Amino acid sequence: MAKTLRPLIAANWKMHGDMSWAFKPADFNTLFLTEDRTHLDVLICPPATLLSSMLDPEQTGVLLGGQDCHANAAGAHTGNVSAEMLKDAGASYVIVGHSERRAEGDTDADVNAKAKAAARAGLTPIICVGETEAERDAGKAQKVVAAQIKASVPKLKDYVIAYEPVWAIGTGKTATPEDVDEMHNAIREQVGAKVRLLYGGSVKPANAESLLGLKNVNGALIGGAGLEMDSLAEIAKAAPAK
Ligand code: 13P
Repeated sequence: MAKTLRPLIAANWKMHGDMSWAFKPADFNTLFLTEDRTHLDVLICPPATLLSSMLDPEQTGVLLGGQDCHANAAGAHTGNVSAEMLKDAGASYVIVGHSERRAEGDTDADVNAKAKAAARAGLTPIICVGETEAERDAGKAQKVVAAQIKASVPKLKDYVIAYEPVWAIGTGKTATPEDVDEMHNAIREQVGAKVRLLYGGSVKPANAESLLGLKNVNGALIGGAGLEMDSLAEIAKAAPAK
């Protein structure tokens, strides 16, 4: 049943990119034509400074998203960006609860409020969860992730979950397909059949097929390999047609 969900291939550019990167969706489009990818969604989440300069998703077939948002729509919150502002700048998605934000202090309650704010603004939140290496070594990975989901995911009609084991992010260490399969099956049981479940953590062209082919993996959240359009396109081509 979950296999009927449309794959989502999402690049998180993190703190990378200048104005010249605003044209990357066009490069992606020449590498993987829109007519050949009607079965999947492709998303780029650039730094907020680039969002409104990025080529129009209607022209490139590459959707745009934010990397984080504040829970409030507006106010005295120096340095923050609201979900409404991201929407206004062209986003249709926003990542919330990335482990790099959680490491800066975001709690499950904060992530929950941000996900609600995303929905309020008409964005689809991509809610990130994932265990640390110590938690995995202690045999607690599933328990930790289940608790994060319980506390970070509000009651929403439309959201995406990204499972990103902290120890696999930017390290080159990818979780094995067996680990990912086990975790995604557990998450599927918890959230039901309609939620897209992305895997993130050192996804690259070489491992994309084995990860994206798993039953309850509906896409990927990609850091390093999403900065270059040729590797992003290769990963997107590995997403099975439904
Ligand atoms: P890498 O693909 O660089 O490991 O980053 C994963 C990630 O954090 C995506 O949000």
